[in-house]
Amino acid sequence: MAKLFAVKPLSVVQKEASDEGEHTLKRSLGPINLITLGVGAIIGAGIFVLTGTAAAQFAGPAIVISFIIAGTGCVFAGLCYAEFAAMIPIAGSAYTYGYTTLGELVAWIIGWALCLEYAFGAATVAVGWSGYVSSLLGFFGVRLPFNPTPSVTLALWGHPFSAKVDIFALAAIIVVSTILVIGVRESANFNSAAVIIKVSVVFIFIGLAISFAFGHWHIMMANWHPFIPKNQGHFGAFGWSGIMRGASVVFFAYIGFDAVSTAAQESRNPQRDLPFGILGSLVLCTLLYIIVAGLLTGLKPYSTLNTAAPVADGAAAIGATWGVCMIDLGAIAGLASVMLVMILGQTRVLYTMSKDGLLPPWVGRIHPRFRTPWLVTIAVGILVAFLAAFFNISFLGELVSLGTLLAFAIVCLGVWVMRVRQPDIPRPFRTPWVPFVPLAGILISLSLMVSTDTPAKVGFTSWLVIGLIIYFSYSVKHSKVRQLPTATASRR
Ligand code: ALA
Repeated sequence: MAKLFAVKPLSVVQKEASDEGEHTLKRSLGPINLITLGVGAIIGAGIFVLTGTAAAQFAGPAIVISFIIAGTGCVFAGLCYAEFAAMIPIAGSAYTYGYTTLGELVAWIIGWALCLEYAFGAATVAVGWSGYVSSLLGFFGVRLPFNPTPSVTLALWGHPFSAKVDIFALAAIIVVSTILVIGVRESANFNSAAVIIKVSVVFIFIGLAISFAFGHWHIMMANWHPFIPKNQGHFGAFGWSGIMRGASVVFFAYIGFDAVSTAAQESRNPQRDLPFGILGSLVLCTLLYIIVAGLLTGLKPYSTLNTAAPVADGAAAIGATWGVCMIDLGAIAGLASVMLVMILGQTRVLYTMSKDGLLPPWVGRIHPRFRTPWLVTIAVGILVAFLAAFFNISFLGELVSLGTLLAFAIVCLGVWVMRVRQPDIPRPFRTPWVPFVPLAGILISLSLMVSTDTPAKVGFTSWLVIGLIIYFSYSVKHSKVRQLPTATASRR
């Protein structure tokens, strides 16, 4: 029983973090690369698609408040991530933070929940990406000689399953996975280019919305009244419960800042640069999101925003046809970089779990020339393509949020536990106001988890059960930490 809660000693983790050599990841990322990795993972389907849906269905113009609530929870979690990332700069991120504080079983649960965040996150975004490509092709009047989403029926375990094979999504996943195999520097460069495009497009939208084109002020004050539409009699249908439901949906838009911490072993100066990358990207995106949500609901009545491309529709409402095209392009670039960073994060977490013996050794194998975990990158690419083909975007999106929120809550708890158990170890970055910040991070994460839809909660629980079966049938027998003489002794 005690071994289930075996803690990985901090000294062992810090030694692993400083290992160098042909079989380790390559340290080539500076502070700007890390901040762009964060922005690369954050700005995507959330702002380009979900803002409109959540305003129309749940919160109305008060979606701005939903963004503030979700953003505040993320800033609290981000502060806790920053403390851990600087103290334990290792690719396993929240999984390793859990291992050093709450023990192996909790670490496994976080690692497994992070698969929901990263692999399922990449799949969700792949589906959204394909929608934007089709919309851009439609904009230019391009007619494809083939159906980009043919249906196939597969017989799995004797049951027929229908899947929509999304050829664009598949192509995107293949390209992104290939770049990730070739090198982390190449991946960071691809990401930086995409980030420049998408951030420019967000600024173009803001500029268009607040400009006085043709002598008109485009924002209609009437669209902001009532700012909080009256609740329609059940949970989540406007009013304050709608704001909370909206917050749980737009939380997806913030996911990704934590992926910066998975690049810890590829960062040149992780102790200084990781907190900067995590918090810098998060604060920048929070401000942009609140502004975009406010402007979008001012441009069009919230009830008309439940479309596949609400931000582009906002530009269309102003009459800026070129703006629509730019926003489509921005979303295409933006979503590609989200996929890239999500798959990167997923492979680094799995790599660390394999090094700890909880997953098979091939998962942690590094390519001698590219210095990337190439086999697991290909395997994750295949998994992501499969998920994108089989599941719908809103179900996937809520699963992603649930997995991420669980990891956030445990990271916040871990910071608090570590402050009590080991108050004196060096912390290059300190979360302010402990325990208030971790406690608030835990409470906001848990209340957002409660506000998600029931099918997603069922999917989430099933995912955790599958994870526990793998843990008890494979990982407990191969765990390296269990073989350390100090592992259980360090438990308090
Ligand atoms: N935050 C990422 C997005 O919105 C996952 O696409």
